[in-house]
Amino acid sequence: MPIALITGCSSGIGHALAHAFKNAGYDVWATARKVEDVARLHAEGFFALELDVTDAAALAALAERLAQDGSGIDVLINNAGYGAIGPLLDGGAETIRRQFETNVFAVVEVTRALLPALRIRQGLVVNIGSVSGLFVTPFAGVYCASKAAVHAINEGMRMELKPLGVRVMEVQPGAIDTRFADNAGAQAELLIAPTSPWWPWREGIRARSRASQDRPTPVSEVTRKVIEAAQRATPPALVRVGNGCGALPLLAALVPTAWLDRVLMKRFGLNQKH
Ligand SMILES: NC(=O)c1ccc[n+]([C@@H]2O[C@H](COP(=O)([O-])OP(=O)(O)OC[C@H]3O[C@@H](n4cnc5c(N)ncnc54)[C@H](OP(=O)(O)O)[C@@H]3O)[C@@H](O)[C@H]2O)c1
Repeated sequence: MPIALITGCSSGIGHALAHAFKNAGYDVWATARKVEDVARLHAEGFFALELDVTDAAALAALAERLAQDGSGIDVLINNAGYGAIGPLLDGGAETIRRQFETNVFAVVEVTRALLPALRIRQGLVVNIGSVSGLFVTPFAGVYCASKAAVHAINEGMRMELKPLGVRVMEVQPGAIDTRFADNAGAQAELLIAPTSPWWPWREGIRARSRASQDRPTPVSEVTRKVIEAAQRATPPALVRVGNGCGALPLLAALVPTAWLDRVLMKRFGLNQKH
């Protein structure tokens, strides 16, 4: 039976992908960082594992366990992630570091830990990026930077893993109906403070935290496209899915910067002087 391991299965895209791969006949190792989510995933019939993707010791233990098990992995999905929304300079290096620990460094470290298992089955790595890696908006610079980094890492990984027999595919979702915006909103509230130079524009920050839920596409559309692509003999390098996934990269490539700045600054209130 084919085996898939997915990170961040407590909710949203990860949870839906876990069910979709199970329904497609895979044995799914569904991982989550909270014990209560692991228990719930276990009750849903998964081989559930506790995994915070930033926890080096947990990753080493997982690699060891897979080595002892010896059966290998067909599909690894690096899905866990969150949006550090807020003014770039308010959060500073510490916010960027934490964002990159989860969204970027973990993509490398999880794949590194699972590489021997992936090689056994000539497996596939699926990296969940975002159109935000190509289309940068105000108050999301840190998140956009992390997904731009995922894109670049994905490209390098794809060419470097090919001679080892491991394939690599990036998924760039647009707006998808998940808890992402609730979590992004909570991140934004951490930075919104009267001492910030951007306090007068706080409603724009809040609007950006909700932007991923702008006419969002159902998560079932993501699972349908990912399963279909992952099961091809030669999976595509890139899968785009969800509201804005086609238009936003095109706008970023074709529209003059000054025009795009005006539109985006208006959208998030930065055209107002305070
Ligand atoms: N929804 C969208 O519109 C959209 C668009 C483009 C890209 N994406 C990407 O899609 C992926 C999934 O997001 P989602 O939309 O499904 O949002 P979500 O419902 O908030 O799910 C995010 C998942 O990541 C997990 N996670 C976060 N940090 C983690 C860590 N350190 N270790 C392990 N798990 C961790 C969360 O676990 P907890 O429950 O423990 O926090 C949760 O399971 C993310 O990479 C996101 O950037 C989403």
